[in-house]
Amino acid sequence: MITSLYTWLKYIHVLAGFMFLLGHGASVFVAYELKKTKDLERMKTLMDVSAAGWPAMMLSLLVLLLAGIITGFMGGWWGALWIWVSLVLLAAITGWMFSLGGKVYHPLRKMLGMEYMIQGKPQTVDKQRPQKEILDFVAATHPHTMTLIGLGGYALMIWLMIFKPF
Ligand code: HEM
Repeated sequence: MITSLYTWLKYIHVLAGFMFLLGHGASVFVAYELKKTKDLERMKTLMDVSAAGWPAMMLSLLVLLLAGIITGFMGGWWGALWIWVSLVLLAAITGWMFSLGGKVYHPLRKMLGMEYMIQGKPQTVDKQRPQKEILDFVAATHPHTMTLIGLGGYALMIWLMIFKPF
């Protein structure tokens, strides 16, 4: 019985990992597409598409984390280093993403005259900033670095969980 519950939780953990990627995929490609356009209306649509993935991304991240923690206890894995390194990696990448959201993507919505949030709280809509200012702001974003760290970290976490090297 315990074994089957453990296997079910592991299944939910993996499924949540796939759901997370499904929910976050739009944001990944939006980060690149933003830099290819000068059309501010298109930018607004891209930002809306990115935000559409938020609920699925956030919910699956939570499920992924909870199922991982419980599975860790059931499997007696908390004495191993690989699970701690995975957890720290996930926390570090998530924290970094929140700081980028706060410094780049929510301010960009503000500049575009869209609804935006500061620390999860909705703010009053501002007047749209001049096009040149917005294009310069977007030009200074770094989607390749985000992909390298975000996807690289994800690949590393999966490697740690499958190979359990230490
Ligand atoms: C383990 C991998 C990743 C985790 C845990 C993660 C987590 C998150 C979280 C929690 C947010 C929400 C931040 C906020 O609303 O302030 C976010 C936003 C974002 N992430 Fe990631 N992310 C990962 C990988 C990536 C990758 C590979 C990219 C590639 C470019 C990326 C691009 C973005 C973008 C553009 C946003 C802003 C989306 C928006 O405001 O609409 N992320 N990420």
